[in-house]
Amino acid sequence: MDIRRLEPRDLPLIQHANLENLPENYFMKYYLYHALSWPQLSYVAVDVSRPPRTPYDYPKIVGYVLAKMEEEPSDGVPHGHITSLSVMRTHRRLGIAEKLMRQSQLAMVETFGARYVSLHVRVSNRAAIHLYTKTLGFDQEKTETKYYADGEDAFCMRLDLTPIRDQIPDQNGDDAAEEAGEDEGEPVGDAGKAEGGGLPSRPKEQLRKVKVGRALGVQGLVEKDESKHS
Ligand SMILES: CC(C)(COP(=O)(O)OP(=O)(O)OC[C@H]1O[C@@H](n2cnc3c(N)ncnc32)[C@H](O)[C@@H]1OP(=O)(O)O)[C@@H](O)C(=O)NCCC(=O)NCCS
Repeated sequence: MDIRRLEPRDLPLIQHANLENLPENYFMKYYLYHALSWPQLSYVAVDVSRPPRTPYDYPKIVGYVLAKMEEEPSDGVPHGHITSLSVMRTHRRLGIAEKLMRQSQLAMVETFGARYVSLHVRVSNRAAIHLYTKTLGFDQEKTETKYYADGEDAFCMRLDLTPIRDQIPDQNGDDAAEEAGEDEGEPVGDAGKAEGGGLPSRPKEQLRKVKVGRALGVQGLVEKDESKHS
């Protein structure tokens, strides 16, 4: 079994697996949005015991996790979110879901500095609740009534990613240095030396606020139809 990053060419197979395994289904553009916006966070499990025989054969994808970063976190804390997770019936109880989840959590911390990861799960989904709480250590935060389209409630769950952050020295080192306003290192060569031997004072950078992403508003992201202008 191979656990690798999801690639855009996998999306039709992911959509197929999602339709097979879950009642929550999405338009293709929503999968594409994940794959293009957070390509580091979604993973697939590929059965490599029967490799494709021709270049046109599809890989045999038996599980996936589709994940993202919360774009406008209400608490202001950068965190990831699991949009969808499933493993084909033929390949369950082999530890695939656990591996997919752990891989995505690591990438959330490494790539985006996520502090925690959240998700929703149906209150009746015993297997998934067991996976999240017993195997992965998620906490059950609250219940959202009638969260799903058919009226079922959802448990909102969250996992603190501090233990993963602690295993990545750069994450904590960089954060601490940044918070303490430390320089990145000693000046190298004569160019870095000020007269009298002291360190040169760095010219203050001119910082300017610029709008990015959603702050631009939809208008700024929509292509303009130049043909309307004469
Ligand atoms: C939930 C699901 C993703 C688990 O996938 P999986 O690859 O079989 O899970 P794993 O093999 O990694 O299992 C890890 C742990 O999860 C728990 N678990 C998994 N399936 C379980 C089941 N049927 N009953 C109870 N616990 C279960 C166990 O604690 C298991 O550890 P163990 O095997 O050492 O006891 C899979 O059953 C599935 O795709 N279900 C349908 C889609 C779905 O419900 N997705 C989640 C939406 S929130």
